[in-house]
Amino acid sequence: MIDLRSDTVTRPTPAMREAMARAEVGDDVFGDDPTVHALEAEVARLTGKEAALFVTSGTMGNQLAIATQTRPGDDVIVGEGAHPVFFEAGAGAALSGVQFTTVGRGGLFTPDDVAAAVYPKVYWSPRTSLVSIENTHNRGGGRVWAPAQARAVADRARSLGLATHLDGARIWNASVACGVPVAELCAAFDTTSVCFSKGLGAPVGSAFCASRQLVEDARRLRKRWGGAMRQSGVLAAAALHALAHHRARLADDHAGARALAEKLARTPGASVDLASVETNIVNIDLEAPADVVVRHAKEQGLLINATSPKRLRAVTHLDVSRADIDAAADILTAAIQKAR
Ligand SMILES: Cc1ncc(COP(=O)(O)O)c(C=O)c1O
Repeated sequence: MIDLRSDTVTRPTPAMREAMARAEVGDDVFGDDPTVHALEAEVARLTGKEAALFVTSGTMGNQLAIATQTRPGDDVIVGEGAHPVFFEAGAGAALSGVQFTTVGRGGLFTPDDVAAAVYPKVYWSPRTSLVSIENTHNRGGGRVWAPAQARAVADRARSLGLATHLDGARIWNASVACGVPVAELCAAFDTTSVCFSKGLGAPVGSAFCASRQLVEDARRLRKRWGGAMRQSGVLAAAALHALAHHRARLADDHAGARALAEKLARTPGASVDLASVETNIVNIDLEAPADVVVRHAKEQGLLINATSPKRLRAVTHLDVSRADIDAAADILTAAIQKAR
């Protein structure tokens, strides 16, 4: 099976498993795991933040950003299709008691969008306290924020007295796509969360990166939420291996996504906004019902997800070769024709 459902489906490579097997470990709740410490130091360095905390998932990273920078009843400004709104099981409401205001189009927005969305400072309105951007933007089709625009949004938020978070689950892709170091993309934001389990190909894990004080606040919450781990150096070793060996190759995933997008853009019954294909995600709009195309594709050996009744999402990653992508394009083209 060729699996284009997500970049989270990758299996650890033999070299990664080797690094995991060799990892020195200790009880991280007691602060004893040297491999977790090494990962946290490396991620703090890469993101340019004072400190980092190894967490179970990108969801936990985002929720720690919300919990440490809001109070119950607050409003959080996000882009259209934001991950915490669509895919985090209502955690913002359940864990921190916040609500969300969605601004902009396709996940991107402007400083003026932020200013216009801030509630008046009167006691009967919610208190707007946090602005969060997603780079790259998942539902937006892997869109990359122009570095100057992201910075302008963060600067305006700060001038309005708001905290800022960057959901950087795929910040590694953004950095490779726009040629700007990760630390520079994160610099204007108070907090960032990054994932090792997406394009980087590690089996588990993310990091919450921020000031020392916010990371200590997050450490207590991680424990409260059941996310403190013991000999997690085994997992941190996989993340360290991924950071060292799987970042530059993301350019191959981007090229594969581009090739797939160009082929599908020429397929009758499908349309792809080629300008929006900047990284490893391709949104494919269909005339036929997406679930029918998904079924036909599966019968021919391709797994792909429908993200709405007439839309498919294909994601390239470490475990699909260029030949796989070419084969996937042929299978999908045939499945789309069959479903028309
Ligand atoms: C943009 C973004 N943020 C956060 C997450 C959450 O990551 P996890 O699945 O590790 O909770 C994802 C997952 O795909 C994502 O795409």
